[in-house]
Amino acid sequence: MSSIGTRRSIRKFKPDEVSRDLIGQIVEAARLAPSAKNRQPWKFIVYTGTQKDSLLDVMEISLKKEQTTHALLPDSHNGLPDAFNTLKIMRSAPVTIIVININASSPFEPIDADRRITEICDTLSIGAAIENMLLTAAELGIGSLWIANTCYAYDDLVKFVGENGQLAGAVALGYPDESPSQRPRKPLGEILEFR
Ligand SMILES: Cc1cc2nc3c(=O)[nH]c(=O)nc-3n(C[C@H](O)[C@H](O)[C@H](O)COP(=O)(O)O)c2cc1C
Repeated sequence: MSSIGTRRSIRKFKPDEVSRDLIGQIVEAARLAPSAKNRQPWKFIVYTGTQKDSLLDVMEISLKKEQTTHALLPDSHNGLPDAFNTLKIMRSAPVTIIVININASSPFEPIDADRRITEICDTLSIGAAIENMLLTAAELGIGSLWIANTCYAYDDLVKFVGENGQLAGAVALGYPDESPSQRPRKPLGEILEFR
């Protein structure tokens, strides 16, 4: 069966390192993804070892700050426990890849409709790139988790990473220590309509 059917979000990882060669193959799959106007609006920054620890220390402090202030995402604070859980998973995975949309800026700043359309297209392109990464990782026997919960720590993570652009999310990688069954999907008849 193709990796489209067998891929799962992995939330338990073995501590074993993932080689730079394998990480390179996974990011190469991102490089080959389609993108709006072929803008290739992405950059991938790989954190491992103590660098990853420092990144996640920043995320932890920032999540705790958000827990008391609700300053960044006041209407989404009920998602914070899940963000702490994601952080725990990221700690256990040997690799965190930070994904940057190099053409966009902070989602906490207003933009006009033209820029929003461009940003949507670039975000979709980045989604295609990340999916390529997850499928390639699965084919290589590497477990992965696509992460958006970085949004609760957005400003502090961006400051730490020190890149221009928008933090689009992260991908955790490592050798899987679980084999979850498929999460439920809506039936085809519910999402497909012929006219
Ligand atoms: C854009 C996006 C963001 C996600 N963010 C998180 C996250 O922050 N934490 C987490 O545990 N899972 C996250 N996931 C994983 C989803 O929960 C998962 O894909 C979904 O439940 C379906 O499960 P599956 O990937 O095993 O098929 C994210 C997935 C996507 C596509």
